Amino acid sequence: MCGIIGYIGKKTNIQKQLIDSLKTLEYRGYDSAGIAYVTDKVNIIKSKGKIANLEEKIDREEQGCLGIAHTRWATHGGASDNNSHPHRVGKVTIVHNGIIENYMEIKSLLEKEGYKFKTETDTEVACALLDYLKSKNIWNNLEVIREFAGYIKGSYALGIIFDDDLDTLYATRKDSPLIIGLGKDENLIASDVSAVLKFTKKYCLLDNYDIVKLTKEKVQIYNKDLKSVCKEQLEVNWNVEQAEKNGYDHFMLKEIHEEAKVLKDTINEYVENLDSFVDKMPDMRKYDKIHIVACGSAMHAGLIGKYLFENYPEIETTVEVASEYRYKKVFYDDKTLVILISQSGETADTIASLRKAKEDHIDTLAIVNVVSSTIAREADQVLYIRAGVEIAVATTKAYLLQVAMLMLINLKLMVEREKIDSSKLKEILKLLKSSPEYVEKVLADEKKYFKIAEKIYKDEDIFFIGRGIDYAMSMEGSLKLKEVSYIHSEAYQAGELKHGTISLIENHTKVIALMTDEDLALKTISNIKEVKARGADVILITTEKLDSDFEFVNEKVTLPKVDSYLIPILAIIPLQLIAYQVAKLRKCDIDKPRNLAKSVTVE
Ligand code: F6R
Repeated sequence: MCGIIGYIGKKTNIQKQLIDSLKTLEYRGYDSAGIAYVTDKVNIIKSKGKIANLEEKIDREEQGCLGIAHTRWATHGGASDNNSHPHRVGKVTIVHNGIIENYMEIKSLLEKEGYKFKTETDTEVACALLDYLKSKNIWNNLEVIREFAGYIKGSYALGIIFDDDLDTLYATRKDSPLIIGLGKDENLIASDVSAVLKFTKKYCLLDNYDIVKLTKEKVQIYNKDLKSVCKEQLEVNWNVEQAEKNGYDHFMLKEIHEEAKVLKDTINEYVENLDSFVDKMPDMRKYDKIHIVACGSAMHAGLIGKYLFENYPEIETTVEVASEYRYKKVFYDDKTLVILISQSGETADTIASLRKAKEDHIDTLAIVNVVSSTIAREADQVLYIRAGVEIAVATTKAYLLQVAMLMLINLKLMVEREKIDSSKLKEILKLLKSSPEYVEKVLADEKKYFKIAEKIYKDEDIFFIGRGIDYAMSMEGSLKLKEVSYIHSEAYQAGELKHGTISLIENHTKVIALMTDEDLALKTISNIKEVKARGADVILITTEKLDSDFEFVNEKVTLPKVDSYLIPILAIIPLQLIAYQVAKLRKCDIDKPRNLAKSVTVE
């Protein structure tokens, strides 16, 4: 989703600095980009499409040491040069992330004051509002930003340049992420830390309504009452190299290949030994119900959690899409635990669901990757997965770790509910500690998955089927495939297909069947035979234990011999790699699929 970077400091080739920084935000997904920089006045350059288009228009050597830049993911108004940011109205220039919900109302108020609008964006309205408040000549720039907040319904992170103070960069935020990069003789604003890494590893976070005034030497932060506030200085613990491809063709492939390592980092952190595991996991004895709330792949990880929680510790669990949960009537009480899952920790709907639960005084636990993100900070408790930076828009390693974390929570629930004795617990923890080796083994069969990709990449409809936990994994396999390869794909509970969807199966329709659940295997076989009888070509993902000489499958992936508890973190890997290779064969923009954004900060 939209990315912001703002710079003020010692470097003088400002256009180059802004463009290079924008490139580090490319992974978030965008459809236009622009910069504003100060010489003796504010200059704006913008362009629809890739940053490369913008780059063609800039002068990498032109002097200037203050600027703001933006990658836009269109919400209000299509992707065009005109609608892209920065926007300038009167004496104010801004870049904006978020959505101004009441912009139509503000627009008509401003039109009555004589403002004319050139774009369809809510951002131009926000910019005009700042200019209007400024034109009253009763407030200084900080006060103008404070007054602005009173008018706005919605979310924003803003980088602002006022014509009457061209030596200062202003910023503010509400419900959209914005961090301050703290350099030596240079300071920055950015929507995430990756954009400031080449300048500094030091940064601080802003709270809602904070207002910041940055000069080359100084960062002054004020709260909504304009009282000066001090923020904790944080330091990024990963470096620019980790945000690079390291010889892989794409970040997606690199990140899949990191799965064994990040799994090890995460498991080792929580499972040093039996006692430390029990202590590090939250106390969940008081709960008799769990709600898992998340979006997209994180929600699919939640489906695995539901399966585990209901089957092992036997605790009632519901999984809800956050964009629904936030608005629906929810039945919870003080014995309910709401688990929010989010890689970025900034997904708007998941944040809103978290806040809803908190307002209702329900306990919340977050599973998050990005340290100190909004969800991590606001949830009652947080369990970090240690995926490191994930650049590819389609999540792979973070999803796998979300599943692993749910497995750990599941074990803790089993301990608390006396569904496991200490020797069995020890055995499973040992197994989990060895899981990275199995991940390596599955990854080592990459060529086999790539061959399957060659057989399916020309298809336009691919179905995934599975029962129980295999259905949960099918959902993620199907999402991965469609989002990166643009092939239409659907996942179905294997037994549900014949209630309608089977009419879509014809000669050579590809069906990827997951069959890893021993208890349901015979049922799944019957469903596979049903599609086979209608002409489908079947690709089976199964385990060594269940494997047999199935005459009804066209292709087969057999997972290594391992305790079934580990299957959910293994079975997804071939599906991720098949999706990757299919997208590659179709020449798709794998790391930045069309229309998608890494961090979905608007609802
Ligand atoms: C799909 C994908 C998305 C995210 C979803 C939630 O590959 O990455 O479906 O899982 O947007 O994002 P987070 O986990 O950041 O809340």
